[in-house]
Amino acid sequence: MTVIAVLSMKGGVGKTTVVLGLASSAWDRGLRTLVIDLDPQANATMALEPEGAVFTTSDVLADARPGVAADAIVASSWDSRIDVLPSERSLEHRNVSQGRNSSLRLRTALATVPREYELVLIDCPPSLGELTRNALSTADLAVIVTEPSHFSLHGAQEALEAVDVIAGTTNPGLRATAVVVNRFDPTDREHLLNLQRLGEAHGPLVYDPPIPDCSAIPQSQRAVSPLHSWNSPGSRETADIMDDLLDSLLPRKRQVRVTPPVSIRRYLS
Ligand SMILES: Nc1ncnc2c1ncn2[C@@H]1O[C@H](COP(=O)(O)OP(=O)(O)OP(=O)(O)O)[C@@H](O)[C@H]1O
Ligand SMILES: [Mg+2]
Repeated sequence: MTVIAVLSMKGGVGKTTVVLGLASSAWDRGLRTLVIDLDPQANATMALEPEGAVFTTSDVLADARPGVAADAIVASSWDSRIDVLPSERSLEHRNVSQGRNSSLRLRTALATVPREYELVLIDCPPSLGELTRNALSTADLAVIVTEPSHFSLHGAQEALEAVDVIAGTTNPGLRATAVVVNRFDPTDREHLLNLQRLGEAHGPLVYDPPIPDCSAIPQSQRAVSPLHSWNSPGSRETADIMDDLLDSLLPRKRQVRVTPPVSIRRYLS
């Protein structure tokens, strides 16, 4: 069982896309997976379209009794093995502290629930409010997503600092495992420069290879389908990257792929 929070302080860089990409990879290999939507925009919920949802992460955080999250979990439209703890707009009200131990409410509400899954993915909103603090206080691993742009790099740096703060307080077991670069264009000099800056700042934490711009990503999200079910050269390349990323995050026995990814070093030489 691995709990992964996907975050960035910058909006629109691909957090939900990485959550859905990893969920698609888990779907492809039949891993029992829970996606927790902690973003009031509810984009992951829309892309997984769970049926029959009665409660949401907003209700779960309001209640926060041990294990209460189990009542809000529903199956996604992808497959009965991919479950969702859905979100809704009113979750916005939970992005401020709810008093003592406020950032531990999600962890308490989940209690033993994560043990039923091999993988738990948490989609964060683009801010370091109480929702992201709850995600980081629950997760084993943090994946930071960034675009190769100047402002996005700042968002990635802030996210890494947030991980350090939570690892030093409520969740000593938390570790930042990857900075994933999304929408990378190797012909764009600005992208190359920013990739280099990221490498200098964070070294091996920068996940190799970056994710290219890929039209199958928004198409599959709109169609409520896993990326791995999409059949185009671009979708296969991106699905391969998601597979390798998932392999790098899961304990060794869960890994299935052996093909090394194409290295970003070739863009830097
Ligand atoms: N590599 C990519 N290629 C093409 N489109 C992409 C790619 N990554 C993300 N997108 C599209 O960009 C938009 C923003 O991505 P996404 O919703 O994943 O970002 P986000 O960081 O979760 O945003 P927010 O901060 O609002 O939650 C979406 O429409 C998504 O489909
Ligand atoms: Mg999002």
